[in-house]
Amino acid sequence: MHDYRIAAADKPALYRDLAAALGALVEGEPDGVANMANAAALIFETLPDLNWAGFYRNVGGELLLGPFQGRAACIRIPFGKGVCGTAAATLEVLRVDDVHAFPGHIACDTASNSELVVPIVRDGELLAVLDLDSPLTARFDGEDEAGCVRLSEILAKLL
Ligand code: SME
Repeated sequence: MHDYRIAAADKPALYRDLAAALGALVEGEPDGVANMANAAALIFETLPDLNWAGFYRNVGGELLLGPFQGRAACIRIPFGKGVCGTAAATLEVLRVDDVHAFPGHIACDTASNSELVVPIVRDGELLAVLDLDSPLTARFDGEDEAGCVRLSEILAKLL
């Protein structure tokens, strides 16, 4: 069992520590599912105010539920549908302050109010999306976005 206790002074420091811990966890391990599983556990344990943290993989042009922490979730999401499917189709990070105001939002857990989705891309190809949900409205800011983009860059080499 790995015991990463991260207690950083501010958010950029928190994400620096989280990126270092993630880098150490996945180093030398080529199995993408194992790496996503550990990443989901680490992120869920480290970041406050999340009710879901995990991955949807790009399998045959459709998002398929991958390793996660939180409540059981929808299994398949077509590209272009909901927050995750829109991020997958556009390859752009989506930070949604109020998911109930997002057209087509897919409500897997009614506790979710805000969401951050980061496409994980290698050589222009979508591998997966990292999806974080929070019960707080507007939980995610630009520092969360930058921190999670860094995490996705680490993972992009090892999925
Ligand atoms: N709310 C997401 C679906 C995934 S769950 O939040 C885990 C969406 O609209 O893409």
